[in-house]
This record gives sequence, C-alpha cells and structure tokens, in this order.
Amino acid sequence: MSVPETILSAMAEVEVPRHVAIIMDGNGRWAASRGLPRVEGHRRGVEALRRTVRAAGDIGVGILTIFSFSAENWSRPASEIRDLMGLLRRFIRNDLADLHKNGIRVRVIGERDTLDPDVRNLLEEAEELTRDNERLTLVVAFNYGGRQEIAAAAKRLAEEVASGRLEPAAVNADTFAGFLAAPDLPDPDLIIRTSGEQRLSNFLLWQAAYSELVFISTYWPDFDRAALESAIAEYSKRDRRFGGLSARTGA
Ligand code: FPP
Repeated sequence: MSVPETILSAMAEVEVPRHVAIIMDGNGRWAASRGLPRVEGHRRGVEALRRTVRAAGDIGVGILTIFSFSAENWSRPASEIRDLMGLLRRFIRNDLADLHKNGIRVRVIGERDTLDPDVRNLLEEAEELTRDNERLTLVVAFNYGGRQEIAAAAKRLAEEVASGRLEPAAVNADTFAGFLAAPDLPDPDLIIRTSGEQRLSNFLLWQAAYSELVFISTYWPDFDRAALESAIAEYSKRDRRFGGLSARTGA
C-alpha cells in the first residue's frame, strides 16, 4: 500500500514544532455564511478539533494548546454560552476514552473556580485519567485569559514575597514564569489563528514572546490536517532568532 503524499512528506526538511497553539476562530462566520445557527459552527468546530488532535499526534507535535473559551466569552448571549459549555461536556464525555487510548494527556489552563461544578469535575476527571500519557499533551485553555493568568501569577508571587519565602531580588523572568499556569511546558513555537483575524486576543501573552505566528483565512470548522501541515510548512521556513543572530546564516 502506498503512503499518500502530504505537504510535509513532500518537503526535504521539516522542523516539526514541539508546541503548537491554536486560536480556533470563525465558527460563527462559518455558520452565518451557510445560513445556519452559530451553534452549528461550534459543533463543526468540535469535529475540526478531533481531526486536528489526531493530525498533531501523527505529525509528531508534542503539545497542542487550544483556545476553547476565553475569559471574555462570557459577554456572549447566555444561549451561546450554554451551547459552548454543552459542547465541552459532550466532548469530554464522548472523546475522553478515545483520547486516553491514543496516549493523549489532557491539561487545562484557565480560571476554574467560576465554572459550573460539573464542568470543573469533568475537566479534572480528564486530567486525572490521562496524567501518565505521553504521546501528545492537549492543553485546553478554558475560561482563559493571558492577562488574568499573568495577574494570578503576580498575586501568588507577591504572596511568596510577603511570607518571606521569596526575596524580591530573586524575581526575574524565569522565577515569574514559574508561577504561570503550566510552568513545566515549553512556550509555543507556533501559534495559528484561523478566520483571517490577525491578533492574539489575550491568548498566551507571556508565552507568545518568541512564537512564530501564522494567520490563515480558513474558518475553524474547515480546518484539517492539510491546513495544519501547511501552517507547519510555513513555520519550517521561518528563521527564528530569539533576539540573537540567525542559527542558519549567523547574520
Ligand atoms: C470562535 O468562533 C470559537 C470559539 C469562541 C470557541 C471555540 C470552540 C470550539 C471549537 C468548539 C467547542 C470546543 C470545546 C472543546 C469547548 P467564533 O464564535 O468567535 O466565530 P466568529 O468570530 O466567526 O463569530
């Protein structure tokens, strides 16, 4: 049986990013452009998410972070918030066994205390069941905001200083990062945003310092393996300098 040629397999050299983060945008516009209710766009968005998790694992991405519900999404109509919470519940209930079987570790970042207890419990159950899996880590950013994450880290750091356990002089970017939501994970190498918008919208503000950004016009429900591969191919061509000189050219 011949292996189908893909965008990445056709490339001479590919640098697969260790950590890919995605702003899954455009569900509403996808639905509106078809005369469908917004919830249909979110439903199809969950299907795109399933495809993407599978593809990321196959390609060899180690960490996939998805922006599932932002701290600012509470300003949407109550019915849409109910739909999104319902989809998350269903996603965990229906897909958790499958994710676990495929070696996927689920982690959640974002404010949990203000979520419904049943949603919180489901998220915790997913983390607990999959904690030893190593093939791919799926970080679900839920009720997440980058500024909120940084403010929470500052609060915990201030508590450490106030209690005398941390010297102010010891505070630097590295010690600060240790107070963020998932300090053991590397920063995203690649951040993809779908739907043509070109902004971060409060996503991973601290961690995005040196991420490569790829913006694509596809609406999230249409995102698939080819779209992921094409974003990774674009990433592969970038020259990451981290404020220094090019590792490729030395210039
Ligand atoms: C953006 O589309 C997407 C979201 C607000 C949420 C992303 C949610 C999913 C992909 C489905 C739910 C999955 C889980 C795991 C909860 P938009 O509504 O902002 O689209 P628009 O900008 O076109 O209106």
